[in-house]
Amino acid sequence: MTLSQKAGALSFFEDLHPPKSRFLDDVLTGLSQSQKMIPPKHFYDAKGSALFDDITGTDDYYVTRTELGILDEIAGDIASRAGRGAVVIEPGSGSSVKIDKLLNALDQPAAYIGLDISKEHLISACADLADRFDGLSVGAICADFTQAVPLDNLPIPDGRRLVFFPGSTIGNFEPEDARSLLKTLRGWLRPGDAILIGADRVKSRDVLENAYDDQQGVTAAFNLNLLTRINRELDGDIDVAAFSHRAVWNDTRSRVEMHLVADRDLSFTISGRSFEMAAGETIHTENSHKFTVDRFTELAASAGLSVMTHWSDERGYFTLYWLERS
Ligand code: SAH
Ligand code: AVI
Repeated sequence: MTLSQKAGALSFFEDLHPPKSRFLDDVLTGLSQSQKMIPPKHFYDAKGSALFDDITGTDDYYVTRTELGILDEIAGDIASRAGRGAVVIEPGSGSSVKIDKLLNALDQPAAYIGLDISKEHLISACADLADRFDGLSVGAICADFTQAVPLDNLPIPDGRRLVFFPGSTIGNFEPEDARSLLKTLRGWLRPGDAILIGADRVKSRDVLENAYDDQQGVTAAFNLNLLTRINRELDGDIDVAAFSHRAVWNDTRSRVEMHLVADRDLSFTISGRSFEMAAGETIHTENSHKFTVDRFTELAASAGLSVMTHWSDERGYFTLYWLERS
């Protein structure tokens, strides 16, 4: 099936994908800083989304398995809280697989709307979901959720909204940006609506560093794919083989940092701009903040959201929070 045939299986598809110039600006600006950096949203071209799915299947990446286990336990509770005819909106929906747990339990959900920056992957995932849940209205929005998304102008059915934000994607933002994003999500709520959000917990350095540097090398491939994407889409000539993946726990900032380390002195160009890196210098590509329940509750409160209840796994590795407007 072609992509447009898949999009045809959806109740609507809205394409608000940011222009390539935004990607170029972020890369040129980020690589001009003393600590070179590139925002992690740019990992997700079609290949990056597929590699993320592969990460979720590795033994070391406990995050997805743990959250799915909690969702199994709480799906009935979520269904009673959400009530009949809920409209589920999932920012950063990826492969839209976690939602199956809730859709199997919810009482006659009115619609599911996936929102993601990775266009082809989003359309395929939402079309697959529409196929799995015959009769469910499934819409898709390709957009950057850090920018304004005009939900009011889109054909989203009436009904109690449940904004489902799993995966600990909130952890990929610096505290101030996480607060802004939570405020944005809060703005999607009307009275009575709620957010169900997953956030990974602080745990031992070993478990965390292994999760972001899995033995099969999938996370390394995911990190390095960013350079391949730059070469292809932004006319770059980076020697990808001259970089290594590094994942390190930063205890002070309570986050796992991912970097791409230059293995030797190198120079490259991107869209005609020249860059140099010394051996050992890094490009900081991702932060994955880890939260205590208290810290996450404070973060939510600072965005005008109250934790009504929360659920964790037995090991205390991961927590899902039910948030409502304070
Ligand atoms: N929700 C899924 C996927 C998590 S991976 C899960 O829990 O497994 C993070 C997802 O967020 C990816 O699909 C990525 O494309 C998307 N994403 C990251 N930054 C984004 C942004 N700024 N706007 C929209 N989508 C984004
Ligand atoms: C999407 N996000 C929450 C993942 C994480 O755990 O920070 C992305 C990821 N990066 C490396 N592995 C997974």
